Amino acid sequence: QISQKVDSVMQTMTLTDKVGEMTQLAIDMVSTPGAEPDELNEESLRNVLLNYRVGSILNVAGHAYTLDEWHSVIRQIQDMAIDEKPTGIPVIYGIDSVHGANYTMGSTLFPQQIGMAATWNTDLIREGSRISAYETRASWIPWNFSPVLDIGRNPEWPRFWETFGEDVHLASKMGEAMVEGFQGDDVSSPYRVAATAKHFLGYSLPASGHDRTVAWIPDIQLREHILPPFEAVFDAGVHTVMINSGEVNGIPVHANEEILTGLLRDELGFKGIAVSDWADIIYLHDRHKITKDYKESIKVAINAGVDMSMVPLDLEFPRLLKELVEEGEVPMSRINESVERILRVKFLLGLFDQAYHPDIDYSKFASNEHQQASYQTAVESITLLKNEAEILPLSKEANVLVTGPTAHSLIYLNGGWSRTWQGDDPQYDTPGKKTILDAIRDEIGENNVNYAEGTSIDEEIDIDVVVQAARESDVAVIAIGEATYTEMPGDLSDMHLPEAQRELVKQVAATGTPIVLVMVEGRPRIINDIVPEADGIVMAYLPAHEGGRAIADILFGDQNPSGHLPFTYPSDSNDIVPYDHNYTDEVGPLGFNPEWEFGTGLSYTSYDYSNLTVSKATFGADDELEISVDITNSGEMAGKDVVQLYVSDLVASITPPVKRLRGFEKVNLEPGETQTVRFSITADDLAFVGRDNEWITEEGEFKIQIEDLEQNIIFQK
Ligand code: IFM
Repeated sequence: QISQKVDSVMQTMTLTDKVGEMTQLAIDMVSTPGAEPDELNEESLRNVLLNYRVGSILNVAGHAYTLDEWHSVIRQIQDMAIDEKPTGIPVIYGIDSVHGANYTMGSTLFPQQIGMAATWNTDLIREGSRISAYETRASWIPWNFSPVLDIGRNPEWPRFWETFGEDVHLASKMGEAMVEGFQGDDVSSPYRVAATAKHFLGYSLPASGHDRTVAWIPDIQLREHILPPFEAVFDAGVHTVMINSGEVNGIPVHANEEILTGLLRDELGFKGIAVSDWADIIYLHDRHKITKDYKESIKVAINAGVDMSMVPLDLEFPRLLKELVEEGEVPMSRINESVERILRVKFLLGLFDQAYHPDIDYSKFASNEHQQASYQTAVESITLLKNEAEILPLSKEANVLVTGPTAHSLIYLNGGWSRTWQGDDPQYDTPGKKTILDAIRDEIGENNVNYAEGTSIDEEIDIDVVVQAARESDVAVIAIGEATYTEMPGDLSDMHLPEAQRELVKQVAATGTPIVLVMVEGRPRIINDIVPEADGIVMAYLPAHEGGRAIADILFGDQNPSGHLPFTYPSDSNDIVPYDHNYTDEVGPLGFNPEWEFGTGLSYTSYDYSNLTVSKATFGADDELEISVDITNSGEMAGKDVVQLYVSDLVASITPPVKRLRGFEKVNLEPGETQTVRFSITADDLAFVGRDNEWITEEGEFKIQIEDLEQNIIFQK
């Protein structure tokens, strides 16, 4: 039925309408510099919508808008598009609501994606994404540029914290849950948004670690490590993809027909919109130098399979694309194909029926219920990495020194994409949110807390004051970490935590006062020289608005930590090796020597695993193997643990990884309680990408492993 509706709109469209639909402009093109965000420039808007028939707009001009400002902006755009454009096609507005509706003032901010992954709790992520969709749609925006499905296997890359970490299975499950939360069963609902699988394909592995630089990715790796999370969300029905800005194997992806058409459409059957990333068609000549000018870049990109260009700041794109069609350089069939995809998503979103929803009461926007969901996500993400002599939880009677550059900052808790692109301007943040220091003061009373900053992110401020205070305190909570950054501005030349912060820790350690480190960082910065100085270490990632409270509640035992690392924490900059490495990564004097391995996460209680059972000792291609294990909370506090199922292929025709995650479940256990957790795997879970780039399962022996329990099975076709 939708295809009939699309066809009938297409009948009414001119070439100008069609190339306009394929154009996405930044809101800056129609806003008024220096004026209120919703004072759009009517003349520019008329030009964009009525002369050029532009079909999509994105982003904010500078910083987040209030709900009223969003409503006013969207109303002006949609009313003109629908009432005055001859086709009456509504605009599809897109935004990066990557951890909540972060471009709407006052909205609920959730932990960033790397922290979401650390919860290992797909229900929580589905629910958080439903809330982000609600608050985005409350802003009358129907299209969300999220989730990031690029695999986080290179922590030098500044967008590492936007990923679900290093593991393919975890990222696939999290991505699927996120897309379900955003889109729901019916994306035309005024509470849901279209999700975007980004960035297709191979963005996260630039050889230098610098954003948008050269990646060389063999097909085997592309299929085994990069593609599966995208396939998972295609199965979950994601409606759009955004294309990788970088170049893979010498070809910018925006010009790669093999990836954008051969793989995405012909092989994977994706039916939605493929939108470019910011200015990436321009970059084909401007940066990558594979074309001589803008016109040739447009020809190459559209012929390769780009449906919509995030231009974002000129009207040359639709003008030149129209010329290219008239000159026969871009076939009309290619244009029709893209326009059909775009209109289909507009219909699915219900934009033709109602482009915005003044009649809907979005009173749950930023409600306590929504903030509680953010708090719970932060609590379940926080990962306890070291707890010597059970220093944690801390006594509420203790006299606590709080120090470090991230102890009293909301922007560091939030990270990038928070109210502004870089997330570094506190004036737009929500008042009343708690820093780590605020929350600790609330927890144990102001009189029990000493505070001195010690250092900024990079430089010493008052370490001597901190040292004096440490001598008078029972324990020092040192909140270390990174400044906020988004994309390229976060490129790094040294993975070590800045020296000033490490010096702060060392000088406090010299006083003999016990230390608890709280790490507020989006990627694992190297801290091998201060790990031995700390008695307790807590990884908080970028936990956002409720992070201060969640951290304090964990430090003082109101909550039991249950986060687990979604990446391997390297012990040194030249030692970046994921957990699912091959055997040869373990030979040599260094071996596999991470600071903490993927999946690590301690608790205030203890869990015992027993009774690993496997339904068949030998299983075949059509069998399902049932695996079960008992887990008991053998300590004294209720808690949640993540049961992790790993499988190893003992001998294979391509060097096999030492193990791969093939299932996980987060379980909640009262003290003394035992639960049986069951997994079911098939031959596909044992498969790998072989020499001919196809998935195969080879006969032979495999090891099943949960915690320290193991059992071997034989696979026979
Ligand atoms: O969605 C983002 C993308 O991840 C990076 N470049 C800009 C896009 C739109 O803001």
